[in-house]
Amino acid sequence: MKEFYICDASRFENQVITTSFVVVSKQAKPKKSGELYLALTLADRTGHLDAKMWDNVTEHINCFEQDDFVKVRGLLNRFNGRFQLTVHKVRSMQEAEVDFDDYLPRTTKDIGVLWQTLKDYVDSFQDPHLQALVRAFMADPQIEQAYKNAPAAKTLHHAFIGGLLDHVVSLFRLCDLACRNYPESINRDLLLTGAFLHDIGKIHELTYNRSFSYTTRGQLLGHMIIELEMLHAKIALVPGFPGEYKTLIEHLIISHHGKYEFGSPKLPMFPEALMLHYLDDLDSKMESMRAHFLREAEAEWTGYNSSLERPLLNSKKFLENIKTAGAAPVTQPDTGSAESSSALAAAEPE
Ligand SMILES: [Fe+2]
Ligand SMILES: [Fe+2]
Repeated sequence: MKEFYICDASRFENQVITTSFVVVSKQAKPKKSGELYLALTLADRTGHLDAKMWDNVTEHINCFEQDDFVKVRGLLNRFNGRFQLTVHKVRSMQEAEVDFDDYLPRTTKDIGVLWQTLKDYVDSFQDPHLQALVRAFMADPQIEQAYKNAPAAKTLHHAFIGGLLDHVVSLFRLCDLACRNYPESINRDLLLTGAFLHDIGKIHELTYNRSFSYTTRGQLLGHMIIELEMLHAKIALVPGFPGEYKTLIEHLIISHHGKYEFGSPKLPMFPEALMLHYLDDLDSKMESMRAHFLREAEAEWTGYNSSLERPLLNSKKFLENIKTAGAAPVTQPDTGSAESSSALAAAEPE
């Protein structure tokens, strides 16, 4: 167990802490004097923390890298409403000192319950071929194990252990609701099959045993191409699987990012593909907002959200605050770029 978790920062405000983190990013930047300082993003399983090292940078700069686990001593305080650590000492940790569970965030939901929810939806399929196909995936013990653990993305949304499963269960619910509104246009089983498979390639695209990053295969091919290969292997196990379904599922997979610039080689061209794209996009963005509000629990306006490319208003907190007499004035959003947001946080002490 670590001595300190980022979610408990408010209890340690203005205190010197000694604890360990994984290094999410590390940048050396010049101060006004021309000397270097280090701008770090540190993380544990409960969140991210901005950190700055102003002094003795040259002697520490090469002793750790991004993705390393580090032991840090520093002063925790608040800057522009956000917690920030001023690092006094830092050293790289040996693997034997590291308990990986302390650093990889994990869904707070019960993974077994989520998996059973997927199974229940698949039990409700009317089409025997689509049902047999999804069951062939779910019955594969390696796929089950990986599907229950993989994150849905490296950083943008559901970036935690169990994130893929969490995302797909949420997407199943959305699909189930939305397709009832268009009963003449949507084949529910086809849509849910697409939802089950649309990100399954992430189990090979990402590594998630130390920190979240891309495999070489994931970096070179991306999850959609990997999914086509996985699909073909499982279709071979379902006797008489219709060729037309195969083509439709392939299209659901390759079009789900919805735009050429987001990596889809084809735009969604039939109703289930269009619906899958929009609901997938909706679920990932809603989760990105939820996670950001959790990370900046004190803030009415959050800092810049890099996946949504804007700061966010926590509307729930905003409405609560205007009900409270004498509420503090609203902090204006930082409407600048990610760079200006980090530049603010990186302001040097006078
Ligand atoms: Fe995707
Ligand atoms: Fe997705």
